[in-house]
Amino acid sequence: MKVCFSIVLHGAVYITATFAADPNNCNTANKERSGSDFTLKENADNTYLSGLASKLANRRATVSQVLDSANHALTSEPLTRPISAYMWEHTADFNDEATEKWVPQGLTSTADSLAVGTVEGRSAWLVSWHLEDNTSVRVTFVDQESKKYRHALLVNPVAGDTFKAVPVHAGGMAWYGNTLWVVDSSGGDGAVGFRVFDLSNIWTMDSGGDTVMGKSGSSYYAMGYKYVIPQIRSYTWNRSFNFQFSFVALDRSTTPDSLLVGEYQVADATAPRRLARWDLDYTTRKLKTSAGIASASWAYCVDIDRMQGAVSNAGKVYISRSNGDSNGDLWAWTPGNAAKNNAGFFPPSPEDLSWDTRTDTFYGLTEAKNKRYILTYKKSQVSV
Ligand SMILES: *[C@@H]1O[C@H](CO)[C@@H](O)[C@H](O)[C@H]1NC(C)=O
Ligand SMILES: *[C@@H]1O[C@H](CO)[C@@H](O)[C@H](O)[C@H]1NC(C)=O
Repeated sequence: MKVCFSIVLHGAVYITATFAADPNNCNTANKERSGSDFTLKENADNTYLSGLASKLANRRATVSQVLDSANHALTSEPLTRPISAYMWEHTADFNDEATEKWVPQGLTSTADSLAVGTVEGRSAWLVSWHLEDNTSVRVTFVDQESKKYRHALLVNPVAGDTFKAVPVHAGGMAWYGNTLWVVDSSGGDGAVGFRVFDLSNIWTMDSGGDTVMGKSGSSYYAMGYKYVIPQIRSYTWNRSFNFQFSFVALDRSTTPDSLLVGEYQVADATAPRRLARWDLDYTTRKLKTSAGIASASWAYCVDIDRMQGAVSNAGKVYISRSNGDSNGDLWAWTPGNAAKNNAGFFPPSPEDLSWDTRTDTFYGLTEAKNKRYILTYKKSQVSV
């Protein structure tokens, strides 16, 4: 809420003062905040990307090629509520359900990328996993038809011939056109906000080189991963108070398209629990900015503990909440009304959410060891 008033000075000069609610204090009756208090700075594009892209042009792979190279398979699991639930490959030789090295976090799909819902005619999920110490991120390409998948690595070009791992927690992801948006919450190198990656420059690495990053002789490696996705640019938080970039989802039902971001906080944390929305420019696949600054178009204190994901569509917001080893909750909210808790809606440890307008379904994933699922639900299953 904004309170505006004018002061008349010497009968002629008008000074208008605007007292917006403190963006960093949620202990007020009115919960709406001014989006203009939530700002991100758009940083310059990576200077090495275009040079490397020309150098590695003959290694460029399409999304379809990555999907066709899938070397692992999901298994279908009979859970009651979701209309589908899949587990990661878990065999004696290879176990993505139990690995503690990598933990699944962010989720997006081809339905985010393009309004038609497919990319190169394919339907796929992308899932981000953080390394146990947040020093690297892998992104899994999952074919929704074959249920097969392949992991790739996010990289940041740091010189003409080399790149390094991306040290973030990657709690949320959104695919927009050929860009992949990853939230930077842990501030692995001091920054917080978004990192944007280039899905039109997926590069094929040579086989082997399990401990090598970048060029070695005439070969290129990325710790043994077959494909890498390079960073294009980043957006860094530009306010003196903190905002936790815990998760992100694309909303194609707003005009313009927008990204919804929210904050995870444990129950006894004193920090705020907010959601904020930033508008996108579909012609550039960038945030809408003014003088290099992207201001949120909306921000709200939602005051829900342990938010792990949020997605909005057609004016409604859907929020996942984790409850330790117990089932997760789904809060459904129409701003202006009270949020409704669909208690125990998710299996334990729900994370990022993502919408599919083709079918009015939404996707979720869970991170708990041996209970890691990719889940699909119908919007009509949610009590709003
Ligand atoms: C990784 O990042 C998350 C999210 O910011 C944080 O809660 C966690 O403590 C980090 N873990 C390590 C080992 O730094
Ligand atoms: C916001 O960005 C401006 C322009 O780059 C910079 O001078 C300023 O230090 C930034 N403020 C914060 C709090 O990051």
